[in-house]
Parts: sequence; C-alpha cells; structure tokens
Amino acid sequence: MIHYNPTTQTFNLIMRRSQYAMQVDEAGRLIHLAWGPRPVDATPDDLITGQTPFTQANFSSHEQQGRPDEYLTYGDTSYHEVSLKVNFPALPTAMSAAEAPHLPIRDVRLRYAHHEIVHDAQPGYAPQHGLPTGKTDPRETLRITLQDPAQPFRVTLCYRLTPEQDIIERWAELENLGDAPLTVEQVYTAVLHLPNGYYDLTAVNGAWGQEFTATREPLPIGLRLVEHRTLHTGHRANPFFLLNRCGQAWEESGAVYFGQLAYSGSWRLTFETVHSLNLRVHAGYNPFDFELTLHPGSRHKTPALICGVSGDGWGGASRRLHAFLRERVLPQPPQLPAWRPVLYNSWEATYFNLSEQGQMELARKAAAIGVELFCVDDGWFGGRRHDRAGLGDWFVSQDVFPNGLQPLIDEVHRLGMQFGLWVEPEMVNADSDLYRAHPDWALHFPGRPRTEGRNQLILDLGRPEVQAYIYHCLDDLLAADDIAFIKWDYNRSQTEPGSVAGKEIWLRHVAGVYDIMDRLRQKYPRLAIQSCSGGGGRIDAGVLARADQVWTSDNTDALARVRIQEGFSLAYPARTMEAWVTHTQNHQTGRILDLNTRFHVAMRGVLGIGSSLNALSERELQQYRQYITFYKRIRHVVQGGDLYRLQRLEEFGASAIQYVLPDGAEAVYSVVVVEHKIGQLRPSTPLRGLDSRATYALFDMHNRQVRRMSGYELMTRGIPGHAGVGIGYAETLYLQKVESTI
Ligand code: GLA
Repeated sequence: MIHYNPTTQTFNLIMRRSQYAMQVDEAGRLIHLAWGPRPVDATPDDLITGQTPFTQANFSSHEQQGRPDEYLTYGDTSYHEVSLKVNFPALPTAMSAAEAPHLPIRDVRLRYAHHEIVHDAQPGYAPQHGLPTGKTDPRETLRITLQDPAQPFRVTLCYRLTPEQDIIERWAELENLGDAPLTVEQVYTAVLHLPNGYYDLTAVNGAWGQEFTATREPLPIGLRLVEHRTLHTGHRANPFFLLNRCGQAWEESGAVYFGQLAYSGSWRLTFETVHSLNLRVHAGYNPFDFELTLHPGSRHKTPALICGVSGDGWGGASRRLHAFLRERVLPQPPQLPAWRPVLYNSWEATYFNLSEQGQMELARKAAAIGVELFCVDDGWFGGRRHDRAGLGDWFVSQDVFPNGLQPLIDEVHRLGMQFGLWVEPEMVNADSDLYRAHPDWALHFPGRPRTEGRNQLILDLGRPEVQAYIYHCLDDLLAADDIAFIKWDYNRSQTEPGSVAGKEIWLRHVAGVYDIMDRLRQKYPRLAIQSCSGGGGRIDAGVLARADQVWTSDNTDALARVRIQEGFSLAYPARTMEAWVTHTQNHQTGRILDLNTRFHVAMRGVLGIGSSLNALSERELQQYRQYITFYKRIRHVVQGGDLYRLQRLEEFGASAIQYVLPDGAEAVYSVVVVEHKIGQLRPSTPLRGLDSRATYALFDMHNRQVRRMSGYELMTRGIPGHAGVGIGYAETLYLQKVESTI
C-alpha cells in the first residue's frame, strides 16, 4: 500500500512485514525517513507522520553532507558518494562571457515537482518479449518527479512494491527537457539509507570455477566497493548483498537488508558508512569509463534495484529473493513445462570431438536413463573443431553433421526428448569467415592490438548491423530446426572496448543482448534459454527475466559445488541452478567421488548429466536411472519450494538444506558432508515450515519409507544424525505428510 499525506508531504510504503517512508522538506527536497521491519502489532493505519522535523546527530562538518536525500546528487552534496553527476553545458538563461570558463555546470539539485501512483510501471531493461511471469497481478508503483530549479532536467524516482515479499524495485528516470545535450558522468539506480549503526556485509566473490564464494565482513567507516567492470555480470563478484547490524542477525533471525541489481553489465555496489554511522548503499552502473549523453527531449531509465528487508535473518532474505525471482522475474509461458527438465549435455563427454553417430549413441543412452532434454555443446558449427576457430560462423558444420542437424534432432525427438544447442553469439574468432569479412565488427581501438581471450574477440554490439547479424543467425537456426533450448555462452571479458558507440558501449552491449533474447523469445515462445558465461559469469536478475536457468559453474566437482551452491542460494532460487553429475574422477579438480555424492549434490538444483554415458556399464546406467527417477519425484519441491539452510558449511563442515512447499505438505531434506570432523556425531537437524500437528513419512531415493515422524518432532528434535559419516556422505530424503492430525 502506498500512502501519501498531503499536509506533511509524507510517503509511507507499507508491505507485509516492512515499511519505507520519506518526506518532502521545507526546501522541496525528498528526504528519507525510515526503512525496516514493521512492529508485529502494527495495523494498516499505523503510519509515519513526519511531523517531527528532520534532525541528525553527529553531523559531519557541513550539515548537508549528512542529509539522507532519497537521491544524492553532486551539487550541494560534494564529498560523499553521490548517485548522480551531470554536466550542464550552460545556463538556460544568458550567461556572461566572463563566466564561460566555469562550464560545464557540474551541479544538480532536485526539488519535488509532483508524484503519481500507477500500476506496474516498467524499469529500464524490462523484458520486451511479452511472456508472462508466474504472477501477473498489477503492482502499485510510486513515481516521484523531482525537477532541477535552474536547469531543464528532471529525475523521476520509481518504487514498485511487491508487498508479499517485502520487496521494492527502485529505479530512476532521467529526462533532458532542454535543447542541448547533457552528459551524465555517474548515475546509480538508487541510494538506500539504512538505520545508523555498524553493519556486516554478506556478498560473494570468486573466479572461473570458484564462483559464489560467500564472505561476511564488517563494513569500515568509509567506502567499500563491490563491482565488476565488464560487459557481462562477472565471476569475481555478483550484484547482490545482504546487510545486518553487526551481531544482530543470524540464519533465521534478525533484520537483514538485501538488494540485487537487475543488470548484466558493468555494475557497482557502493557501501559508504559516514562518521555518524549512517550507511548509504548506492547500486547501479559502474561509473568507471561511464558516459551517457542525454539528447534534447530524451529520457533514460536505469535498471531496477530489487531491495527489501527481512525480519527473519539471511534465510528470510534469500527466500524473499527466491520467491520474487520465481514469481515475478522468470518467464513462464504456458508452452514451457512447470519444472525444468532433466538435461544431458555432451561437453565433458566429447569436448570438440563431435560426430552425428556419437551424439546419437549418447542420446539413446540418455533417453534410456530418463533424460528429457538433450543438449549438443560447443563444436557443431563452422570451423569449430577446436577453440581457436569458428566463432561467428553459426552454420552447421558439414564435417560434423554431413546431413545437417535434422537426423539427430529427429532421433532425439523419437526418443521422447527435447533438443538443445550451445551458442556463443557475441563472440568471433579471428579464424572465421565472419572476421575475415568484417574485421571492423570486433571491439577494438584503432592502432592498438586486439587482445584475444580464449582465442576470441568480442563483437561490437554498438553496431546495429552486428545485432542484426546475430539475431538473424539465431533466428535462422531456430526457424530451420525444432530447437527447444539454447545454452547462451560468453567466455571472455573485454579488453580494448573500442566501439562505434564510444563509451556508451557499456550500456549498448547489455541492451543489445537483452533485445536479441527478447525478440527470440517472443517469436519462439517454446524456447528456453540457459545463461552461461564460462560457468557462472552471467547470473543476475536482468538476464533471468529472459532466461530459464543458468550454468552455475564449470566446476562440476560435487564437494566444491556444495560451497558454490550455498553462495548461489543466498540470492538465486534452485529452480534456476543447473547442476550436472559428471565423471567419477572430476575433470576440473581430479578428485574421485562416488556416484551417490555426485547425484545428491546435483539434485539440489536443476539436475543435469554430463558423464560419458558410453563408458558406463549397464549397472551404472541403471543406477543413474534410479537417481533420475527419484529426482523427478522430488523436483517440484526442489524447484518450487522454500529453501532453509539448516546447517551451513562454515559452521558444520556439512551442508544440510530443506526445501518445503508453502503448505508444509511435502519437503525434501538433503545433507552433504564436505569436511569430516573425526570423533563427532553429525548433529541432528530440526526442520522448518512443516505442520507440527501432522505425521510425515520419510522416503529414501529407493522409495523406501525409512521413518515416520511427527511434524513436531521433526521441527524440534529433527532428523537424527549419524555416527561415522565421512567426507562425501550424502543423503536426500523426501518427506510427505500422511496424516493431518496426530
Ligand atoms: C564454457 C562453458 C562450458 C562449455 C564450454 C564450451 O566454458 O561454461 O560449459 O560450454 O564453454 O566451449
């Protein structure tokens, strides 16, 4: 609910368990008042009046530097981080010649002009494919327009509410109302003001093969940046955060503020704790090498920052983000199945050694063990017999598939599976027909070397003809063949980002990728997309508005993966997290792990298989089939349930998690031991979200009922631990409510 008091000019945004308030002050500035959990006994009529004038203790030397403006602009605020810095070429009225050296005017001041409450306004980069999401009921959006008193420039701050998840999507719209271009040097989507105090920041860092390493650290007084300066989201960090007052939150308790940027390009999260212990969080475009020209009459919308507050710890923050992404972001056209299918991907089985016959044999084995979607990875096109050639030439290779893809696709369909294909559309190898024809289509600076990464260059999506080429290649593929799924890869970060779009390439590249995905999804509503970038380098709420799942990491070692998946789960739902069972000896780490461990870890997300099926015995294939059958039984709970991290790796050396349907009727419990603490029993694990008055039957993966326990006992004492479980011990249990009352 959005409430406005015209007398005090106070705005109250009331959500299920949280509130957000701001007020226009006597000078017309929009000032932040409060954000946090609502008292449990609050009624809808309990609002912040704002009648007590704004005061702030412990000002730094200049009062305005500590003022919590809803949007901090470079002007009267100057030495803390700002959300907006604009260059105005001149005063709209006449200026004396003597004042010309002062130009451009680097000063923005924003004063309240008007506001409106509308339904479902759209942020920048909102998907244009027209496909529905799980929930489509309209959401209230507050738009507050602020005007610069001296320049033809205005900013509209937008707040779209999803009250059931205590989430506000924030974005800003900039408008040039004058007749000269303006340059924007820095623009964040939003600034968040948190209640004063010292905060712990939970975020993730990483690298290829080590994505989503979770860290928790106290924020210093001053600045802490979390960022990526690339044309994709990146491996080194991910654009989300959780924040709590130091020592005042835990997995299932305490106030936790969270945010996640819906954008897949160069981004930054800035955490600035000023001396009065006011924490400001700016989120949005990375100002590094940034420039945006606002032409006369034009408008720019920033991407959305999805933010909220949980009163029930980090777990509550994650569950809110998961539900929001599942229900409001992921496309869910009726043509797609409700749950993501079990996939087979041939990459680790064949690498570049593809043949029609070999893929057909794999497909037959995959279908026999229960796979539903068969995906051919890299190497099927152009001269792509190794990773030094072929990118850009998206034509089926006659050397690999002399009869085209159709015979393989027909066989895959005959076997009852869907067909999928790997592409990396934004890239080009110097050894390709595309590059030979259009060397100027690759990002570069004239007179400078073109540094290759994995032997490839990045296409300049600042050029409309490049975007058209990519779209037409993919459209031709999808039109010619019945392809249900594409794995869209992006395998290097940029160097020399020289483009016909100048510095705006940072924005245009992302907009171009989104636009191509949107057009394809609109034209092919049965198409599903997996976002991949050398593993987990393009995972964010922006790409998830046009993708169905992501490749979490190229590291498929099950024990390494438990840690990666735990970090991933802080912000992203299991429904999007593809996880493969691969070889006994892992190709990335060399570690040998038994099939049980590999399956129980992969079953925590969207199950995939990447093993060399041709090298497996009949007995092993039979085991694969049993696990896949079990997964199909539990996947609606894994992919659609609420996640509880019952035991985290950092505490227990083991990860115990639970997925539970909102009505508590079904649950999945999964434990994996990563470090063995000799001499210690595995502690029992009280579950959550069940019906304490009911009885539950617990089934193992062979569908054997191994226990029967009351909901009360499960949620108090928990599932008993075991003695003597070593590294790699793993188990998944399916819980079903069998009697409503005991
Ligand atoms: C990336 C992906 C892998 C695989 C290869 C193919 O590394 O993450 O899964 O598709 O590219 O070249």
